[in-house]
Amino acid sequence: MAETMIGVIGGSGVYDLDTLEDRKWVTVETPWGDASDQLLTGTLDGVRMAFLPRHGRGHRLSPSTVPYRANIDALKRLGVTDVISVSACGSFREEMAPGDFVIVDQFIDRTFAREKSFFGSGCVAHVSLGHPTCPRLGAHALAAAIDAGITVHDGGTYLAMEGPQFSTLAESRMYRESWGADVIGMTNMPEAKLAREAELCYASVAMVTDYDCWHEDHGAVEVSDIVKVLHGNAEKARALVSRLPAMLGAVRAPCPHGCDRALEHAIITAPAA
Ligand code: ADE
Repeated sequence: MAETMIGVIGGSGVYDLDTLEDRKWVTVETPWGDASDQLLTGTLDGVRMAFLPRHGRGHRLSPSTVPYRANIDALKRLGVTDVISVSACGSFREEMAPGDFVIVDQFIDRTFAREKSFFGSGCVAHVSLGHPTCPRLGAHALAAAIDAGITVHDGGTYLAMEGPQFSTLAESRMYRESWGADVIGMTNMPEAKLAREAELCYASVAMVTDYDCWHEDHGAVEVSDIVKVLHGNAEKARALVSRLPAMLGAVRAPCPHGCDRALEHAIITAPAA
C-alpha cells in the first residue's frame, strides 16, 4: 500500500507551517532549477508532510518568477502524493466575501510568461485537464474548512492572470460577467497543470482578500487592504491544513479519479527503439 504524503504550497501570508512535528527545512535539487525556497518537511498525526512557501520566505518572488516546474518537481521528489495549494484571490461574487475560502474546481488560464509543461523536448505528452483539480482531495479540504469553522464555498472558477498589476475595470467586468469566473489570482496556473503532469492529486484553496475592482462599493484593489485580510486568512489556512492528515490517513488508496495515473494515456511520442 502506498504512503500518503501531503504537500502544501503556501501563498501570500503563509510562509511556515508551525504545527508540523520533526520539522526540517531541506534543499531539493531539480533539473528545473531551484524551487521557491527550501521545503519544510515533518509529520502531523502520523502523516508525512512537506511545506513550500510559493513566493519564498520573505515574499521574494513575483507570480511570474515563481519556479512552478521546480516547485512541483521538488514536491514529487520528496514523495508527495497530494498537493494542497493555498493562495490569496480577489472575488467576482458578492457572496464570496473577503475572509471566505473557495475550493476551486475550474480554471481559466490567462498567464503567458511562464513555463507550463515538463514535456516538449524529446517526449510529448497531452494530459487531460477537463477536471483540473482532484475531487477526493477537494472534498477533504472542504470538510476540513467546515470543521475549522471557516466560511467556505464548494466549487468555483479561478481566473489566473499574469500580473503583477491588478486588472483593469474592463477586464474585471469581462471575467465576471462574460467569462463566468468566480475568483481571480496570479499563481494557480501553471501550477495545477504541472501537478497533473506529475500525477499528483491537486486541490486549490483560494482565500478571498478583496472584491477586485468591479464592485461599486469597493474602490481599487490595494495591497494594504489585502494584507489586512491576509493575516486572518493565514491563521484559518493553518487550521484547515492541520486537519487534513487525520482525514487523509497515512495509507493511501489509489486516486478514484485517476490523478495518480494521468500519464497512462497521455504520451504520444513513440518509445525509443
Ligand atoms: N490576489 C489577491 N487579490 C487579487 C486580485 N484582485 N487580483 C489578482 N490577484 C489577487
